[in-house]
Amino acid sequence: MKPKVLVTREVFYEVLEYLSQYFEVTSNQSDSLMEPGTLAVNLSDKEGALVTLSDRIDSTLLSCCPDLKAVCNIAVGYDNIDLDACTKARIMATNTPGVLDDTTGDFTWALILATARRLTEAESYLRSGQWDGWKLKQFLGMDVHHATLGIFGLGRIGQVVARRSIGFEMKVIYQDVRRAGPEIEQACRASFVDKNELLAQADIVSVHVPYSPATHHLIGKQELERMKPASVLINASRGGVVDDAALIESLRSGAIAAAGLDVFENEPKLHPGFLELKNVVLAPHIASSSKATRLKMAMLAAQNLVAALAGETPPNLLNPF
Ligand code: DGY
Repeated sequence: MKPKVLVTREVFYEVLEYLSQYFEVTSNQSDSLMEPGTLAVNLSDKEGALVTLSDRIDSTLLSCCPDLKAVCNIAVGYDNIDLDACTKARIMATNTPGVLDDTTGDFTWALILATARRLTEAESYLRSGQWDGWKLKQFLGMDVHHATLGIFGLGRIGQVVARRSIGFEMKVIYQDVRRAGPEIEQACRASFVDKNELLAQADIVSVHVPYSPATHHLIGKQELERMKPASVLINASRGGVVDDAALIESLRSGAIAAAGLDVFENEPKLHPGFLELKNVVLAPHIASSSKATRLKMAMLAAQNLVAALAGETPPNLLNPF
């Protein structure tokens, strides 16, 4: 008999076909988020799960899943999974690093350009029929070329963002818990600075750190106050890394010029303050969403699941085993 696995949200047909070769697959192709109780019932007789960042995997859930051996996230971020609880329950947890770096880096650039050049604000103006002709001072934005880009987190995605900036002839500064090696700094043309220096110097601050208690509100009121009034903040990493209420206050008061955001605290609920602001570009957590990349993410998660339930070490194991 094949092991039973659950796919908690809609995935590509190819992924279901692949999984079906190894497992008896139950898949939530209706794509509605399962409440914790429903998820627990659906997982109670399964050995493995393909989950998404919206599924909370904690000790309460795991206590209802005696047969569970592996939880494979379709995401590089894994703040939805309590790794300690998984380890205690002898459950392997995996993520999908690497396959989304370029796509997420590209989208970060879409946010940078749209935010600095006020693209969504200008489009709304045009669509609403208000445009009555060319004006010299219409939608004056900020130049991206030759500006200073400040990157928090020069990991895989931060590096992609930095390398893309070379075409814009920018100065790149970065801050991280550890200084990158000289080859990385050279490839990214990036200089290591401390947090306050980055905030004070950057015209564009872009955040690329995972969410954890250590990065909770990495960008809060104090940090926003240190940024230049003409600067912009970009976040395509995780909600909670930026204090949304403090950011809204800074955007309202003009403490910073604008923000481009793909992620939010308490997703998918949005702080209502964002919707009242013109100087913010908003996207619904789609930075990795190209068809090719989302397929690669789901396939990698499926490969992790196959390896884990075959008793092997999955390629992207997160917890000790
Ligand atoms: C991730 O992989 O963590 C991304 O946020 C998903 O889009």
